Amino acid sequence: KNGLRIAVIPGDGIGQEVVPEGLRVLRAAAKRFSIDITFDMFDFSSWDYFEKHGTMLPSDWKEQIGGHDAIYFGAVGWPEKIADHVSLWGSLLLFRREFDQYVNLRPVKLMPGVPSPLAGRKPGEIDFYVVRENTEGEYSSVGGRMFAGTEREIVMQETVMTRVGVDRILHFAFDFANRTKRKHLTSATKSNGIAITMPYWDERVEEVSKSYPEVAWDKYHIDILTAHFVLNPQRFNVVVASNLFGDILSDLGPACTGTIGIAPSGNINPTGEFPSLFEPVHGSAPDIAGQGIANPVGQIWAGAMMLEHLGYPEAGAAIVRAIEDVLAQPAFRTRDLGGEADTETCGKAIAGVLEAAAVPELT
Ligand code: NAD
Ligand code: IPM
Ligand code: MN
Repeated sequence: KNGLRIAVIPGDGIGQEVVPEGLRVLRAAAKRFSIDITFDMFDFSSWDYFEKHGTMLPSDWKEQIGGHDAIYFGAVGWPEKIADHVSLWGSLLLFRREFDQYVNLRPVKLMPGVPSPLAGRKPGEIDFYVVRENTEGEYSSVGGRMFAGTEREIVMQETVMTRVGVDRILHFAFDFANRTKRKHLTSATKSNGIAITMPYWDERVEEVSKSYPEVAWDKYHIDILTAHFVLNPQRFNVVVASNLFGDILSDLGPACTGTIGIAPSGNINPTGEFPSLFEPVHGSAPDIAGQGIANPVGQIWAGAMMLEHLGYPEAGAAIVRAIEDVLAQPAFRTRDLGGEADTETCGKAIAGVLEAAAVPELT
């Protein structure tokens, strides 16, 4: 399909710095692959917007971005000015729920030439996906506070797992694993300690796995699973996890590849009823915001995932190859990777590869 319309939401902090580089690379890829893309910019979902309007979003936000083919998102959160749960539940987490983006797909891949903090690991040895449940689980609004401010204060928040919600993410993950070469899936659990919801999760994994006889699967409790991410990352191919466990694993995985600054994230509504949202895994990084030194690769790779999702796998793959070419050269690495390049230098180099390279053979 041609004539894509993308809603772009840079948000807060380094979101404002990495999104322009993402757009630079998307424009280069669009030109090379003759994809007609329009980018519509939105200033909401940010502290600046909140300061002016007193809300994170306009009341008609759904009409404004719901008709787009996808949402290209930077990061939101400026905790010095606004409590995180207010800004996040007022924007990103609301998008995920309201647009039923129930899959959060997060690739983890050691890039050529990038020094792995796990000594001696080579590209290919760390190359897996975290499939994170993205609409329920531990991120629930069921709970409350009683006897507030007294010594009897009680707070609780329930984990909510529904049959529909658990089964659909498991089907997505098994089906996804089934399409990979290795056909292997790992489930993150904690059924030894969290003795109601997690045994249910395990039960559904067992059941859903029967529809995918070609996929070999195993499960680990989340604590030892984090240890294996560091000790034996080569074991993993597709890792499916509940919302919170998936959140944690998808920062840990990229950290094992050198930095969370390169990690992308697809918040996917597989039915296509609503737009999907593509963003880096990282946040607004207030500690380095405004300096032009953020790594733009997570944002750029998220653009590649977006093009792949929208039916342009060659363009997506070309962006990932351009990222690999550029990261292999120390001169283009940002500080989080031990280099000295700034955000723009790295982004321009990746766009430059796309502009210069021959159109890859279609296979
Ligand atoms: P963070 O991801 O913003 O930063 C964590 C650390 O990683 C910081 O030291 C930061 O400098 C570094 N870092 C992150 N991205 C980088 C990049 N591209 N290049 C180089 N270094 C990078 O996480 P945090 O500090 O826990 O959160 C800061 C704010 O962002 C909070 O408001 C939080 O709620 C929000 N947040 C938003 C999202 C999102 O929008 N999806 C995700 C995570 C956190
Ligand atoms: C992420 C972020 C969000 C999450 C926060 C900012 C609410 O950490 O996208 O991984 O926990 O989902
Ligand atoms: Mn996270």
